[in-house]
Amino acid sequence: MVPFQTLYARTHFRNLQIHKLYRSFHSTKYLYKEPITVSTVYDPVTGCMVTKSNEEPDKQQRGERLLNSDYADALKDDRSYGSVMEGFGGGKKKSKSKSKSVWVCSECGYSDGQWWGYCRECKNVNTMKELVDVVDSGKTNGFQVSEKLVQSWLPKGAGEAVPLRLTDVNRGVNHSDWRFPLSGLFGDEVSRVLGGGLVPGSLVLVGGDPGVGKSTLMLQIAAIIAEGKEIGKPAPVLYVSGEESVEQIGNRADRMEISTDELFLYSSTDIEDILVKAQALSPRALIIDSIQTVHLAGVTGSAGGIYQVKECTAALLRFAKKTDVPVFLIGHVTKSGDIAGPRVLEHIVDAVLYMEGEQYSSHRLLRAFKNRFGSTDELGVFEMSPCGLKAVKNPSEIFLSEERSDSEFLAGLAIAVIMDGSRTFVIEIQALCATGSSLSRQVNGVQAGRADMIIAVLMKQAGLKLQSNAIFLNVVSGASLTETAGDLAVAAAICSSFLEFPIPSHMAFIGEVGLGGELRMVPKMEKRVSTLAKLGYKKCVVPEPAAKLLRGLDFGEFELLGCQTLKDVINTVFITS
Ligand code: TYD
Ligand code: MG
Repeated sequence: MVPFQTLYARTHFRNLQIHKLYRSFHSTKYLYKEPITVSTVYDPVTGCMVTKSNEEPDKQQRGERLLNSDYADALKDDRSYGSVMEGFGGGKKKSKSKSKSVWVCSECGYSDGQWWGYCRECKNVNTMKELVDVVDSGKTNGFQVSEKLVQSWLPKGAGEAVPLRLTDVNRGVNHSDWRFPLSGLFGDEVSRVLGGGLVPGSLVLVGGDPGVGKSTLMLQIAAIIAEGKEIGKPAPVLYVSGEESVEQIGNRADRMEISTDELFLYSSTDIEDILVKAQALSPRALIIDSIQTVHLAGVTGSAGGIYQVKECTAALLRFAKKTDVPVFLIGHVTKSGDIAGPRVLEHIVDAVLYMEGEQYSSHRLLRAFKNRFGSTDELGVFEMSPCGLKAVKNPSEIFLSEERSDSEFLAGLAIAVIMDGSRTFVIEIQALCATGSSLSRQVNGVQAGRADMIIAVLMKQAGLKLQSNAIFLNVVSGASLTETAGDLAVAAAICSSFLEFPIPSHMAFIGEVGLGGELRMVPKMEKRVSTLAKLGYKKCVVPEPAAKLLRGLDFGEFELLGCQTLKDVINTVFITS
């Protein structure tokens, strides 16, 4: 590759030839569509390293400015290729259109006013992509996305609006009527995650790993919205897929026993075409499966690329806001766990929902990651069945193993109650203390550091001689313990295995363990305890202050065992009466 900054540094005399060389190099590159590369070369004029890239077709246009500019002046100060090139153009604005470049990182979404060889936020190389906002240019050159392309979806008359008083805005508006309710157990679960129903004109992104069940979820939501049981009348809903044919979707709907008349299927990848069809149909909701497969004519790059994804989403946002039709977008998740087509997408949309699920488990969790219309604490729990997703009636129990009743005979098993958002989950923690084997520690589902701390506290403050034991910890069903509220259950499981004393079934443990062996309160004690009471547990060991606090409340026959330290716990639980 020609290190052209180095070439510029020679003499004025050779300018023209060098420029030709630069142009021919670029035009060849253009023809063969070389992959974008970034490299850093030593520049003898400035005495600095200069980073350059072979990307941006409009560099060719910029190259013309080189002829008329005094590049040497520019080189004096500017050290990066991007700023050098800006310097060339400085003072001689030949371009008729006003344009402003923003460089956006395709990995993390960081934006910068100028090009750097790497992202200054996430430090990835070759991820800064140029986005140009064209103000008055009539044509686009690929990288410039003209508003004209999508302007038919722009809300009109924005200039006529005036600021309103909050009280005037809220007068006569019932916010629960304003949302569209979703009927049934499944609908309730989705509504909860959306913040209490579907908001007209909202743009919702549903992300998740391939095969987790995004299309299945959206098809079911589409059917519920189309049926409109809660509001009494059906209305059309348009489900557009760029991934599957209408027959494939129809086949799936058949398996899931969806038979509403008002669900319309369409297979297309052209966003303008989709929006034209959607406007003609005037649906109650529009679903796009997926944002990575649709494209907007006139925007550079193939479907799924950063420009395409961003501009298609922007066009859909305008459509949603203009027509008040709620739009759902399905988005794939990349290997790094982001929704492909970077974080910029998450900034544009009103709500981001993630669908999660373990590979070998049929349970699926729907979680709000961002929600402009409600809390992000909510969690929907579903189960994948042969005929689609079903809402789980007792989500608190999903992590419990079926042989729970056996725990009376099984030492080393303790029940913890953890919270995820506003939901409580009862999980089983298993511990195995084995003498004679190597002194290793294996933890699964518990943070290793936390487990070490609890083991050390048990040895020092409760006097357990765990030194000569290999200790294994496991959280059943692949759940992971992210809260300190599970500390006490971990300690209890270890004690149980070490003392070979089974913990009575229907006993649970809630509390954080401090370094002094003391038990500490955790948030939402009442909710955790009431979950246990509802599930039929009889006893729960809690920190003494929590027991005092909750004693006045009525949990039926449920007994709270208040303890101050781990020693108290051992004396309360592991004693034969
Ligand atoms: P799908 O919705 O196509 O996933 P995504 O759109 O997220 O890629 O669902 C894929 C999986 O769901 C597939 O492996 C089969 C399973 N599935 C069922 O178990 N039952 C069903 O009724 C349906 C429709 C799918
Ligand atoms: Mg799919």
